Amino acid sequence: MTWIDLSWRQLLLRLATALTVWALAAPLALYLTSALLLRFLWSPFSGFWRPKARDQPPDVLQDAALGQHAYVTLDKGIKLHYVHNGDPARPLMLFLHGFPEFWYSWKHQLQEFASDYWVVAVDMRGYGDSDKPSGTVPYRADILVDDVKELLDAFERPAATLVGHGWGAAVAWMFMERYPERVDRLVSVGAPHPYVFQRAVVLNRKQLLRTWYLFLFQVPYLPELLLRCDDLACLASALRRGRRQPPALSDEDLEAYKYTFGRPGALTGPLNYYRAAGWGLPRRWRRQRAAPAAEAEDGVEESGVTRDDGCPDGADSTSTPTAEASAAEASAAEEPSEAPEQDPSTLADSTTPVIPVAPLSSAAPTGPTPPVLVLMGGRDAYVETSTAFRTRKRFPNVSVVIVRDANHFVHLDDPAAANKAVRKFLAASAQCAA
Ligand SMILES: *[C@@H]1O[C@H](CO)[C@@H](O)[C@H](O)[C@H]1NC(C)=O
Repeated sequence: MTWIDLSWRQLLLRLATALTVWALAAPLALYLTSALLLRFLWSPFSGFWRPKARDQPPDVLQDAALGQHAYVTLDKGIKLHYVHNGDPARPLMLFLHGFPEFWYSWKHQLQEFASDYWVVAVDMRGYGDSDKPSGTVPYRADILVDDVKELLDAFERPAATLVGHGWGAAVAWMFMERYPERVDRLVSVGAPHPYVFQRAVVLNRKQLLRTWYLFLFQVPYLPELLLRCDDLACLASALRRGRRQPPALSDEDLEAYKYTFGRPGALTGPLNYYRAAGWGLPRRWRRQRAAPAAEAEDGVEESGVTRDDGCPDGADSTSTPTAEASAAEASAAEEPSEAPEQDPSTLADSTTPVIPVAPLSSAAPTGPTPPVLVLMGGRDAYVETSTAFRTRKRFPNVSVVIVRDANHFVHLDDPAAANKAVRKFLAASAQCAA
């Protein structure tokens, strides 16, 4: 959508959004800039300002047990690095990481699922050893979605099982909306449907507070400086936030992250994902409100009920050791600040795409939606678990598992529970499809 297409009302809304984002980002930026300035005056030439030199990749990144390294060049000329494991004759399981991660985040899953799938963990564009186009435009959501399509094309796969975390999960959801026939199943780790997430950021105060960094990341340069200083201390603590004891992410693992993100310019591409999305964040929400909203019965959904299609929720929250799940679910139903929900069926039938980017096809998804597992940690410091249950309420074929003691990086923090939940979901949805 260009500026020209906007009505006055839309223009004002957009302006108001921009002002709000900057009003929230500016005090944060000001505070952090002053803190950094003081630190600079205190010791301007210390090693504080740049990460330690790491010339050689740590051994863990070359571990043959995780898989082999390879590169693929997409049609549009972008070269992506990936690590793959298992027999390429098997069905493809494609892993899409989030921020601040790279292929290595899936180290446990690369080993676990290689017995049944050809597992591929890609460095998304801008990350790790993949190409890093400059500017924010190459990181727009529609382009990220297209990367996934071109990846499947390059691997000559009509469809794949997608496993995404954070940003990678958002891209996977958007890909599924545009190409439902190319997704066998989707596992969304540490992330609800992006539309539910956007709504929560706008409407749910707790979620807004958990995602304050979204606003900070809109500022140029400062986030890079902040994440890099003190040998990437902020980045490391972001990865371990809410962690179990002892930390599942070992010091050796952290070295791998520091090696990858400590290289010059290694943080700008990843941060540009947020900058490219910045303005567009509440756009879809506005469109949703503009559409004639059907008042839905927003009652509490009983746990363990069978779904519309008659398939049991195989990997449902009730079947895992998650006492918090029902509490979180109850709070999802009670959330007072939310506007009335639209009935999921009208959502599916609506002609507007459930996608936060304008240029994607405006055709409604036709045919059945692939089964989805939303897998979240009970100690997630960035995403409200209630959004997982909201996702289940709004969209067809969604199961939810909350791993009680895991943080936002469930696949890293509690790999055993995460892998078990994924296996259970895959088995249940395979039976269902048969
Ligand atoms: C849910 O997934 C199954 C298995 O792929 C499919 O057969 C069914 O039609 C889907 N249901 C909906 C409502 O999309």
